[in-house]
Amino acid sequence: MEEIISIKNVVKRFPVGDGFFTALQDINLEFKKGEFAGLVGPSGSGKTTLLNIIGSLDTPTEGEAIVIGKDISKLSHQQSADLRNHNVGFIFQEYHLLPVYTVYENVEFALLLQNIGAAERKKAVMEALDWVGLTHKKDSKPDKLSGGESQRVAVARAIVKRPAILLADEPSANLDAENAHNIMKVMKKLNEELDTTFIFSTHDEKVMQYLDRIVHLKDGRIEKDEMMKAKYGVHGAH
Ligand SMILES: Nc1ncnc2c1ncn2[C@@H]1O[C@H](COP(=O)(O)OP(=O)(O)OP(=O)(O)O)[C@@H](O)[C@H]1O
Ligand SMILES: [Mg+2]
Repeated sequence: MEEIISIKNVVKRFPVGDGFFTALQDINLEFKKGEFAGLVGPSGSGKTTLLNIIGSLDTPTEGEAIVIGKDISKLSHQQSADLRNHNVGFIFQEYHLLPVYTVYENVEFALLLQNIGAAERKKAVMEALDWVGLTHKKDSKPDKLSGGESQRVAVARAIVKRPAILLADEPSANLDAENAHNIMKVMKKLNEELDTTFIFSTHDEKVMQYLDRIVHLKDGRIEKDEMMKAKYGVHGAH
């Protein structure tokens, strides 16, 4: 399978007071297209920092992060925005929905930055809502949705652009068990049917049981990189 993310000797330091804090150290990792993988580790172990680098929201202090053939450190502001607009979607713990817009508009909003005609846009939005099972809520405002529904809108908003990579930072943190399972099933289905590469950050056992691969982080280093026999889904080993 094709390599889609390559992290080589990455170090990330944040300035703190007069010195710095090393959040990531000696990170070497590759992800192939279609992986369903997670970063797991204690709070402060560097999961979000690494996801932010992969999503080109941040750059490494040292080393190289190549995402879909692009060296994150060498992208201009515009190029990194383009990468996120076209190829990398984010799903966060908080849903970040726009409260004054409907479900439909929240999903459509993701496409307005792209040069897509109205008819094609509508088709894409309706398809994304169908994927997450929320067609019937398309005219609702976010404050009328449950947590699980809100997170499904966030997933629809992320997938409507058909990104090659989806990064999900603790997507189940605010969900009950049933909704956590539902959202993981939707994402696993997307992974299998569209071959979208998923990387999660999580502490949640309910999320972990769906993953094909778990990269364990501790104190900013990779402690273990484990291929799982996923309980769900068609991919097992890679
Ligand atoms: N902008 C920043 N400035 C200084 N330190 C930071 C910054 N961002 C993160 N850190 C530190 O880097 C470490 C890793 O943070 P990160 O957010 O990646 O952890 P995490 O594994 O995602 O934790 P959690 O499970 O709590 O979300 C933490 O100790 C954090 O305090
Ligand atoms: Mg985090």
